[in-house]
Amino acid sequence: MNNFKFYSPTYFEFGRETETKAGELVVRFGGKKVLLHYGGGSVVRSGLLARVKKSLEKAGVQYIELGGVVPNPRSGMVYEGIEICRKENVDFILAVGGGSTIDSAKAIAIGVPYEGDFWDFYQGKKIEKALPVATVLTLAATGSEASNSSVITHEKENMKRGTNSDLIRPIFSILNPELTTTLPPYQTACGATDIFAHILERYFTNTKNVEVTDRMCESIMLTIINETPKALANPNDYDARANIMWAGMVAHNDICGVGREQDWATHQLEHELSGLYDVAHGAGLAVMFPAWMKYNMKHDVMRFAQFAVRVFGCQMDFQNPERTAKEGIAKFEQFLLSIGMPIRFKELGAKAEDIPTLVEMLKMDTRSVGSFVKLTKKDAEAIYKLAADVK
Ligand code: NZQ
Ligand code: ZN
Repeated sequence: MNNFKFYSPTYFEFGRETETKAGELVVRFGGKKVLLHYGGGSVVRSGLLARVKKSLEKAGVQYIELGGVVPNPRSGMVYEGIEICRKENVDFILAVGGGSTIDSAKAIAIGVPYEGDFWDFYQGKKIEKALPVATVLTLAATGSEASNSSVITHEKENMKRGTNSDLIRPIFSILNPELTTTLPPYQTACGATDIFAHILERYFTNTKNVEVTDRMCESIMLTIINETPKALANPNDYDARANIMWAGMVAHNDICGVGREQDWATHQLEHELSGLYDVAHGAGLAVMFPAWMKYNMKHDVMRFAQFAVRVFGCQMDFQNPERTAKEGIAKFEQFLLSIGMPIRFKELGAKAEDIPTLVEMLKMDTRSVGSFVKLTKKDAEAIYKLAADVK
């Protein structure tokens, strides 16, 4: 196991009706004037926003609203949010929504105290300061409710990029599984896929003897395999929703990733897909992960066989571990299909003729992609081709 630092200071309020605690928690964590940030209207329609406002009012917290964050959140809204916060002396940002709203809130939080362009932080500049961010989560997927990351698409640059810092981990997150019952089945499945993928990015590692995190990773993957069909069959299944919601947090606050090298190539390959076609991140991952696995399996066949045996219950073929490894990937694809995910370019609406553009968008001359296997441009092209089912 490698040396590591782990700092994950988010306070969680988990369970039914916990959104009524929003006001009290803002006060406890020092907020006086809040930017209430949300998406395209699901929180208005469900009545959640009204309940959160009531809670803020009850606690005597002032707020100003900024709605309209779109999936794959854009820089335009971030600039607008920064301006509003400065003008209104906002000192606390409360995101009510999914990963896109939370990521937009994080971007605003780092932009307000910074004199330059907030995009600098998405180009590698180190974050030194941020307003506190808190969340009321409505979609179990990205783990942004506790992660140190934010991913934004810059419209003018046509670039989707992320930034990381412990300074943007939410100070508190309210997780009420009931809030996820209004999700369309497709979004539920995209979320489950994203959670699974956050584990896979950590699971496929070159670090040896990481038994504790391997076993934690496997338990989260098994949870997603067991609970997602239940939530799809019965959207009001509270316990299935609750297990998925906590799995989403555990999968990406990095408790399953400490002390081991992590990969993240598939997320980078996917970000270009959702950047170019504006598709759901989870669906893009469902298309890219099996392709990445097939391409890189030979790098460590035994790790893929371990995945097949422990996560998908395959029989270990000691004579031919590669057969077991392949079976695990095939079972993963079957699982994705069973929850309604696309697994090839065509089903996602992506086009094989755009592969050169996607490879260019990765800008691999300026950064490395992957760590389990460091990818070259040729590798990236080959993986996109596998995902597109073309030679
Ligand atoms: O905008 P509204 O009207 O709220 O509708 C949203 C949106 O259309 C809807 N929705 C959310 N909660 C709902 C609901 N509809 C009904 N009932 C509810 N309870 O779902 C749609 C998708 O929402 P979005 O926030 O875009 O989804 P998600 O949480 O999957 O976030 C995706 C974004 O997060 C980034 C992705 O790249 C993508 O941009 N990621 C962020 C990470 C992080 N910060 O740590 C890590 C991830 O790997 C990921 O890259
Ligand atoms: Zn993700």
